[in-house]
Amino acid sequence: MAIVRVREHVNPLSRRYQTPTSPPDWSQVFADLSRPLHLDIGCGRGVFLLKMAEQEPEWNYLGLEIREPIVKQALEWRDEAKLNNLHYIFCNVSNSLHPMLASFPKGSLARVSIQFPDPWFKRKHQKRRVVQPEMVSTLAEFMSPDAIVFLQSDILDVAKQMVDRFAESPHFIQDSSEWLAENPMPVPTERELMVQLFGDPIYRSIFRRSELEIPNQVV
Ligand SMILES: C[S@@+](CC[C@H](N)C(=O)[O-])C[C@H]1O[C@@H](n2cnc3c(N)ncnc32)[C@H](O)[C@@H]1O
Repeated sequence: MAIVRVREHVNPLSRRYQTPTSPPDWSQVFADLSRPLHLDIGCGRGVFLLKMAEQEPEWNYLGLEIREPIVKQALEWRDEAKLNNLHYIFCNVSNSLHPMLASFPKGSLARVSIQFPDPWFKRKHQKRRVVQPEMVSTLAEFMSPDAIVFLQSDILDVAKQMVDRFAESPHFIQDSSEWLAENPMPVPTERELMVQLFGDPIYRSIFRRSELEIPNQVV
């Protein structure tokens, strides 16, 4: 696997990323669109999804990522692995999540992961963080009852902020108020492996979509 070198962070609020990305025809992308969908937000180089897609062929996997060169590379690796249940899209989740999810068959979205999102430490930059109330509302709109969101970060403040955004939504219920002791996913992400190498703590949590319907939602 040759590694493409790219900038570490891009600013999702910069002008370059303000045009939402149109979704493809999913029936041309996935071999079987009736499979449950796992969405990974900020998937980076996509190795987590590549391994998940190999291990669980009965799921479809979609990664959304704002750095275009690594999405191109992830798609090449996907093609080399000949996987028909995996796709990556170069987009800004902040403005493209809604159109992406709206174009899937209703009830597809069964699992979402947001793993080690960019921390944007400076207070004035925190609006660049990927988990914002609008994103939580969009996920609530498209997730079926009992579908899960898995969150993890090595930065306590980032993990707490993600948990707070989901906890303040009436459409999500936290599995446990304690940080999870183990990663419930069978595959670690690239960032996770690095953090583990340094022996640093990782803060993990799971939320479930509640039964509560969104007013005016056509079911
Ligand atoms: C620290 S990396 C973690 C990558 C991977 N999840 C992992 O755990 O190895 C965070 C990723 O989120 C992407 N990202 C940040 N903001 C984004 C946005 N608004 N839309 C899509 N991707 C975004 C970044 O480009 C980066 O690849």
